[in-house]
Amino acid sequence: MNTKNKVNLFYRYILMIASVFILIGIIIIPLTSDEEQLFVLFSLIIGFIILLVLIYHMFENYVRPIRASINVTNELVKGNYNARTYVKPSGEAQQLSSAINVLARNLQEMSIQEKMQGSQWKTVMNNMESGLMLIDERGYVHLINRKFIHLFGKKSVDFLGYLYYDVLDDQIIHKVVQETFLYEEKMTGNITLMIDGKKHYVEVTGAPVINDVKDLKGAVLVFHDISDLKRVEEMRKDFVANVSHELKTPITSIRGFAETLLEDDMADEEIRKQFLNIILKESTRLQSLIHDLLELSKIEKEEMKLSLKLIEVDSWMQSSLTLIEQQAQKKSLLFTKEVERGITFYGDPDRLQQVILNLMYNAINYTGEGGRVILRVAETQSDVVIEVEDTGVGIPEDARSRIFERFYRVDRARSRNTGGTGLGLAIVKHIVEVHQGTIAVTSEVGKGSCFTVKLPKKL
Ligand SMILES: Nc1ncnc2c1ncn2[C@@H]1O[C@H](COP(=O)(O)OP(=O)(O)O)[C@@H](O)[C@H]1O
Ligand SMILES: [Mg+2]
Repeated sequence: MNTKNKVNLFYRYILMIASVFILIGIIIIPLTSDEEQLFVLFSLIIGFIILLVLIYHMFENYVRPIRASINVTNELVKGNYNARTYVKPSGEAQQLSSAINVLARNLQEMSIQEKMQGSQWKTVMNNMESGLMLIDERGYVHLINRKFIHLFGKKSVDFLGYLYYDVLDDQIIHKVVQETFLYEEKMTGNITLMIDGKKHYVEVTGAPVINDVKDLKGAVLVFHDISDLKRVEEMRKDFVANVSHELKTPITSIRGFAETLLEDDMADEEIRKQFLNIILKESTRLQSLIHDLLELSKIEKEEMKLSLKLIEVDSWMQSSLTLIEQQAQKKSLLFTKEVERGITFYGDPDRLQQVILNLMYNAINYTGEGGRVILRVAETQSDVVIEVEDTGVGIPEDARSRIFERFYRVDRARSRNTGGTGLGLAIVKHIVEVHQGTIAVTSEVGKGSCFTVKLPKKL
């Protein structure tokens, strides 16, 4: 209601009262004597003025505030919680106006809180690492989150409001939902999904939604991507299978030759010696295999326990160099070292020595006689760069990313002949990564390889 209306109403009332008074005047005045006429007219005017003041007072104190309150109430009904009415400091309608303002303020606060809670709930739901789906007791989909869309593709409108079995065609999901409804208990199942051309393992958990009076109201389905867990499990299985295989070969060999030695009457001293040599060689292999396995598990366990020291490269290298030079000489390889003087950095000296030795032994083992092996140590502002280069057999491109895997070898027979375990580079990579460094390899088949290790000077 606008002010114009209000004013109109006010004037209408005045007009009505004025008409009543004029009517009374017209009726009464002719009935009175001349001297009384003036008095009656005067009384009528006074009465009219008093009534006018009274009506104005009523309008100001009752009609206007009530109308303003009605306006605000209408706004609140429409959802505009910002609406407020003017509260007169006095008057009977003051309580009504202030009560309506309090109501409006409370409603506004409630709506703000509701909005905040709604958006918090939405944030939590959409940032969950698991897919979520809420269905009612009839199986209609009421709610899904962002991860769910990521797992199943399509859009939310393709799921919301539909029956779950019409939009998800996996029998295992249907079974999980049915059993959750049937037993009113948490149920799980495993499904596989193709996401961006990759296979994902997903665990589906259904939990019943039960209200206060123990009525089943629906179910919540949680889809948890367990591909990483599966991968770790596969790796563990592979590792156990590999270790068993690696151990089996030398043990079978040792046992075979020992049995032959025992059973046959070995007259030929030469053959006996040959067999014993094989046994010795295989047990050495067994020993280095176990040694490397123990090293690997030790590094994995001690990840946090590096014994960091300030390494002065010149003196630290000396002991490893002696060992390397001997090996290189045995194979008549040309060994050169280009080590910048005066480099110092923080690291675990024993573990890093293992890195250099493993890389150098590989370079020596996989390079033919007369080849060349170079060790370079240099520094940048932030890193120490260790390079081991050889002119050996090289590594085919498809194998380059795999040589750091446990037990991976390009040429199994060749590695075995050099006494390799297939674990050297896995150990190297582990140590480098624990030092927050990186390792890279460049290579050309038939020409040679170069391993580059970068270690941050300060950990
Ligand atoms: N310098 C290199 N030149 C050629 N091949 C190499 C070199 N270093 C490593 N490799 C390849 O990587 C494989 C894995 O190396 P490593 O983990 O040290 O195991 P291994 O015990 O066989 O030496 C080796 O079997 C070999 O095929
Ligand atoms: Mg090796």
